[in-house]
Amino acid sequence: MQSFQVGTMSSTVTEKSYNRAAWQRGYESLKQESDYWIDDIEGEIPTDLEGTLFRNGPGLLDINGEKIHHPFDGDGMISRISFTNGRAHFKNSFIRTEGYVEEQKAGKIVYRGVFGTQKQGGWLANLFDFKLKNIANTNVIYWGSKLLALWEAAEPHLLDPVTLETLGKEYFNGVLSEGDAFSAHPRVDPNCKFDGGAPCLVNFSIKPGLSSTITIFELDITGKVVRKHAHSVPGFAFIHDFAITPNYCIFFQNPVKFNPIPFALGIRGAGECVKFQPNQPTRVVIVPRTPTQNSTQGNVSAKVKILETSAGFVFHHANAFEVGDEIVMDSVCYESLPEVESGSDFREVDFDSLKPGQLWRFHLNLKDETVNRELIESRCCEFPSLHPQNVGHDYKYLYIGAAHGESGNAPLQGFVKMDLQTGEKQIWSAAPFGYGSEPIFVPRPGSEQEDDGWVLALVYDSQHHRSDLVILDARDFNKEPVARLHLKHHVPYGLHGNFTSELFV
Ligand code: CO
Repeated sequence: MQSFQVGTMSSTVTEKSYNRAAWQRGYESLKQESDYWIDDIEGEIPTDLEGTLFRNGPGLLDINGEKIHHPFDGDGMISRISFTNGRAHFKNSFIRTEGYVEEQKAGKIVYRGVFGTQKQGGWLANLFDFKLKNIANTNVIYWGSKLLALWEAAEPHLLDPVTLETLGKEYFNGVLSEGDAFSAHPRVDPNCKFDGGAPCLVNFSIKPGLSSTITIFELDITGKVVRKHAHSVPGFAFIHDFAITPNYCIFFQNPVKFNPIPFALGIRGAGECVKFQPNQPTRVVIVPRTPTQNSTQGNVSAKVKILETSAGFVFHHANAFEVGDEIVMDSVCYESLPEVESGSDFREVDFDSLKPGQLWRFHLNLKDETVNRELIESRCCEFPSLHPQNVGHDYKYLYIGAAHGESGNAPLQGFVKMDLQTGEKQIWSAAPFGYGSEPIFVPRPGSEQEDDGWVLALVYDSQHHRSDLVILDARDFNKEPVARLHLKHHVPYGLHGNFTSELFV
């Protein structure tokens, strides 16, 4: 494994593939909104890559110089890269949430953030202030002719896919009410058996409490909610993502507890009051998707199964599929939930002191109600992606953001392609100057092989303080990228996004 020597301030010589000061600059705010054809390109954009990549993430890491406490508290900004006839166009736009508009007008932090951002004035100014900002910063998806910016604790924002103008909040014809949650991790079932084999979008919401309510929403291709059912599970639930199969929605209820007192007293953000419980099991909540007569009315008590395992803390699942009595589920697991300390700055993170996210495969046996697990990737990794037709089905190839080195915790600098059947792995790394983000697999139109397509990802180039949209040939990560599109500026490290074959430019 190649490694790079980077000068450090300390007396011990360390060999790292990254430099923290260089990495940190990828978390500078991008205040400018731009709209241009990308003309600085290495390689060639494939002419059969046609469509639009939408990405979301925190665009502002400060409000008028006042630093926010955690990137999850940063205002949502959409980056759109459109591909047509071998050319690419970039446009970005902040989502005009109420909070964004108000704070930009005030020129200061007005809202408390879930992850610890506080208004000026210390705890007194934040005491019993439960007004949180719907920052719309976690994901963006084009579904049912609607472009939706998602943030898990409140309703989606509706955007114009052409102008990226914020049109308001989306309630799906009254299915959601003011302030209702709608998760940032919808999954597309590529051929839903309840909809005659048409694709459908499956999403959920969590209402946490002493017992928590998980509500499932299924939207048909027109964007209409066609199935909705709610289920109560014991205990507090902090669930960011889930997985689907043709018959089930599967959730990992992380072993955490919530102590609201420091939040109510204005000392800590709500997200900072979630404490990981290392000796407690993870509960695997398996909800049947089977519609029943009243499913559109809600309150259907389909039989939920709860199994137990040990999974540490899970943000993201890669995929799940059914084999006989089993559901196989692939998830990125952390030994514990990295805690956000009140006085600390996330930019000063000591990567070595944290445990890496690693990919595990869980075998959930519905008949015996047992769970077995195996580690399938020990390299620090996050942000899985696969062929959209394989969501909920057995699959061979997984693409995932990864650290450059094989062991330990480090920023994501590369992308790993994994063959889950043979165990073969390939890595393409942007180290030592590049820093990665979520890769997205896009199949080549008309392709038949599972890996015939491209992996698209934004990579922060710390040498030039700009971001590149990198296009990798998914069949072979050992090759040089098909193309590197140099943007005129950087894009702060983002969270999630989606590709649509529809072209918006
Ligand atoms: Co996520």
